[in-house]
Amino acid sequence: MNAVQDNFDIKATLAGSRLVGLWRLMHGFRLPYFGAVTSLGAAAVSKTGTYLLLRVLADRLLPALQGNPSANPVMALLPWIAAGFVFLAVFEGGFTYISGRLAAYTAEGIARRLRNYLFDHIQRLPFSYLDKMQTGELIQRSTSDVDAMRRFFADQAIGVGRILLLFIVNFTAILNLDTTLGLASVIVIPVIVLVSIFFFRRVTKAYESYQEQDAVLSTTLQENLAGVRVVKAFARQDFERNKFEKDNHRKFVLGRRLLLMHSTFWPLSDIICGAQMLGGFVLAAIFAIDGRITVGTYLAYHGLVVWLIWPMRNLGRLIVQASTGLVSYGRVMEIVRQDREPLEEGKLQASLHLRGEIAFENVGFHYDQGAEVLEDITFTCQPGQSVALLGSTGSGKTSLVNLLPRFYEYSTGKILLDGVELNQYSRKFLRSQIGIVEQEPFLFSRSLRENITYGVGRAVSQQEIEQAAKVAAIHDIILSFPDGYDTLIGEKGVTLSGGQKQRVAIARTLLKDPRILILDDATSSVDTETEAAIRQALKQLMVGRTSFIIAHRIQSVMHADLILVLDQGRIVEQGTHDELLARGKIYPQIHDLQTRIESELEQEIASAERRISSTEQAK
Ligand code: UTP
Ligand code: MG
Repeated sequence: MNAVQDNFDIKATLAGSRLVGLWRLMHGFRLPYFGAVTSLGAAAVSKTGTYLLLRVLADRLLPALQGNPSANPVMALLPWIAAGFVFLAVFEGGFTYISGRLAAYTAEGIARRLRNYLFDHIQRLPFSYLDKMQTGELIQRSTSDVDAMRRFFADQAIGVGRILLLFIVNFTAILNLDTTLGLASVIVIPVIVLVSIFFFRRVTKAYESYQEQDAVLSTTLQENLAGVRVVKAFARQDFERNKFEKDNHRKFVLGRRLLLMHSTFWPLSDIICGAQMLGGFVLAAIFAIDGRITVGTYLAYHGLVVWLIWPMRNLGRLIVQASTGLVSYGRVMEIVRQDREPLEEGKLQASLHLRGEIAFENVGFHYDQGAEVLEDITFTCQPGQSVALLGSTGSGKTSLVNLLPRFYEYSTGKILLDGVELNQYSRKFLRSQIGIVEQEPFLFSRSLRENITYGVGRAVSQQEIEQAAKVAAIHDIILSFPDGYDTLIGEKGVTLSGGQKQRVAIARTLLKDPRILILDDATSSVDTETEAAIRQALKQLMVGRTSFIIAHRIQSVMHADLILVLDQGRIVEQGTHDELLARGKIYPQIHDLQTRIESELEQEIASAERRISSTEQAK
């Protein structure tokens, strides 16, 4: 298969039982699968043929040659018999090889398709699900669990076919040699099956808890790597190490239990099968002594019975091992079962020209099962206006703006965009029109150019990129890097400061050219002067577009057309800067406090400067 992703819908394979689900997952790979099984079957037949040829040699040719080896016409047949043995061996080897190739193609192909699907699926799941699910858990399921399923297809699914074929071929061959002998050779089958099912159940449970613990470990590792700065800053290495060691020890205990189960099962099944084989040998020997079967038949039986018992023994193994594939299947399908965010859903998705008039009418919102985060939010803003949100931490500012691109759905009230309720627009359309600079912007470990052009689905000229970077006041900084716009960020490149990251994120959003712009505390890590410069540049750029600005500094919000003061999920005051100063309560307080602090700071700086200059003069 080429590298193009096939569009097989894995979700459609979900069925009642896990085995049926796995079978459906094999869609498109059943031909190579059967090819692999048939090749193994052909290899098995040639092995059986070897023993049957041995029987011909022992029963027909050797007695004819006894006492009269030379000038015997039978002698001429011997090279042919030898050639037959060689041919059968080559035949067997060839088919085993073909089978291996086809099995690898099947298992790797299914796993590759599943991984592609999961990657795509996970990034299409709604925030409400991703918020709850731990990253480590998702990583573990998309890697380790998919791998367990790959092993299932590579070993167990092919193995079952092989074992059944081997069993059928060899059992038929033995029955043909002697019916009683044949039937007596398989009496342990029920015992093996029962023992296998018993272990299957136990291993399933044990493996489940093992994988769960593995996911805990992945999460711990992932979180600690992401939060390594916090760990270092608080000097919590020892605490974290102990925590990890504890989790790791639990995984060790669970893994040991799992292995112990396997290692109890193997000898047990070996003993049962060994006893069966021994019984068969003894019976065959008695038959041979009685003259009921020939020596050649005895020899052939000797070889064949090994290949009859082997499948029985391995079927047990396989059943027990298959439990891991089945558990992983369940874990992976738990993610697959989740509904994706319907990006296209919504009547209005044509190339509308948004004006950007936004009205909130008694909007209420809460996360999943939580308490109300926003209550009774009502305000209107005209196209091209700027709305500023001010409020203490946790007052619901981010939650409010996250409703606009339909990251979350509001629970009560109405939001109207250009007079039409928001849920009439498709999410895809809304997101193409709204640009957000997140509170904690994330940049990819790619070049600055790739990061800035990330959201634009077309070729962008260097001029456009530079224009956006200039507005975001990051252009000069980028030029100061040796590779300019091609500088890599992150692991293999430069590490940006918080403010620089924010500015790259602003440039990225500006280049998207959105009708509605949301800046969520986007200039919090930028100094006042740069912020003023960015604000000034944005002002020209945002003409005719609606913008939402979340900020904590009065200076950042005072020029907005509408200021909303939020407290505990409610709008407590709204109006322009002057209106709020005249009749507000909280806003004037914040204003006074901030201006007082600032003027005190300015005085401090001025007096410090005076002191410095006077000491310099004194020198
Ligand atoms: P916000 O994240 O909307 O607050 O959370 P905010 O005003 O933007 O705060 P700052 O200034 O950035 O700090 C509002 C409430 O919603 C809850 C939070 O616990 C908070 O009480 N919340 C937030 C959730 O329950 N789930 C989330 O995913 C996010
Ligand atoms: Mg916030």
